[in-house]
Amino acid sequence: MLHRVSGIGVVLFLVIHVIDTSWAVFYPELYEKAVASYQSPLFTVGEFALVALVVYHALNGLRISIMDNKPELWKYQEKAAWGVLGGTVLLLVPVFIWMGMHVVDHYAKPNVFVLPLAEVLREQIPFAAGMGVAVIAAVLAAGAYQMIAKPAEIQGSAKAQGSKLETFWWSFMRVSGLIIVPLVFGHLAMLHLLQGVFDLTLAGGRVVGVPTVGSPLSQAELDAVGLVWPAIQNGINDTGTATEFVAERWNFMLGGVAVWRLYDLALLALVTIHGFNGLRYVLTDYTQQYPVLRRASGYLCVMGAVVLLIVGGAALVATIEPTAIAMADEALRALHAAHGFAG
Ligand code: HEM
Ligand code: HEM
Repeated sequence: MLHRVSGIGVVLFLVIHVIDTSWAVFYPELYEKAVASYQSPLFTVGEFALVALVVYHALNGLRISIMDNKPELWKYQEKAAWGVLGGTVLLLVPVFIWMGMHVVDHYAKPNVFVLPLAEVLREQIPFAAGMGVAVIAAVLAAGAYQMIAKPAEIQGSAKAQGSKLETFWWSFMRVSGLIIVPLVFGHLAMLHLLQGVFDLTLAGGRVVGVPTVGSPLSQAELDAVGLVWPAIQNGINDTGTATEFVAERWNFMLGGVAVWRLYDLALLALVTIHGFNGLRYVLTDYTQQYPVLRRASGYLCVMGAVVLLIVGGAALVATIEPTAIAMADEALRALHAAHGFAG
């Protein structure tokens, strides 16, 4: 159950996170508000929970993968399960202290912007509504299939799924899990430990994983250059917008390769496919007795994965224009002004 709950928790976060991140490219003004939500106390609590879920799921996933291939170790299953739980707690203690230090540092500042809770919750309504619509669409599509298809077709497709394809997915879950471990922990180490979520909007702050060229620019200097590229690609978040932070990372080239775009693409592909196939396992498990709902579960997971891959992939191949950063800058100032924050 813990493996299941932790996996589903991370899938839910992933849906919001990938859509939010794509806004850095497509709707910079929305991205600034989304990151302001990430920086609110509610999300800070959620972040600690998210890290705990990822750590537990990763360690337990490794246990499952190893044990599956070593029947001679099955007599130690119970001990291994407790070992995973203990290992998770041991790993989380220093990580939580480190993350907690970011939180303390942030709130120790004399002037901190906090998006009100009501607004943070309102921001999440479209996601909940979107997920609700996806569930209804999947059930309707499955119902329509069941009415139109011949009984032999329905039985045939169930048989095909139970064979080679499922063996492939079984192996995929184990291999992808193994590759996700360094990718997701690298991502979390960069954006949680080395820098925290509060550093995404640190004006004049360094951008993790991008070498610094030159020194931070003052607003007057930025206005003078009209936010042209060289000012933006210097490893420093001159404007203090989350959009510039992402632009700095995604536009950083190492030997002609946009390394962080490539990294995020690998992460996106693996966690989306692994996560939604895992969600399919869970949903189909609970809908064994209901053919329409069982089919709808499959449709829902394919639909969710395809949408995330398209949205996340489109953001990764697009350019973040200087105008997007200027828009983000303006939107952030407007957000602060609307809540009487002097900055
Ligand atoms: C709360 C902790 C997290 C923070 C603060 C965070 C932050 C970010 C940021 C700033 C980006 C933009 C690109 C970049 O800088 O590399 C990004 C992209 C991404 N993150 Fe995270 N991340 C977090 C947790 C996670 C987790 C747990 C996963 C996987 C389950 C994940 C998966 C991704 C993916 C797939 C992308 C690319 C999205 C796209 O293509 O639109 N992140 N993240
Ligand atoms: C960090 C590295 C990870 C490892 C080592 C890992 C490993 C595994 C393994 C071995 C399984 C069991 C598959 C089976 O029963 O055939 C699994 C299931 C699952 N995983 Fe992961 N995983 C990882 C990351 C993730 C992430 C980032 C997500 C969410 C985006 C996720 C979501 C799920 C879900 C929902 C299940 C289904 C649970 C069930 O059937 O009860 N996993 N994982």
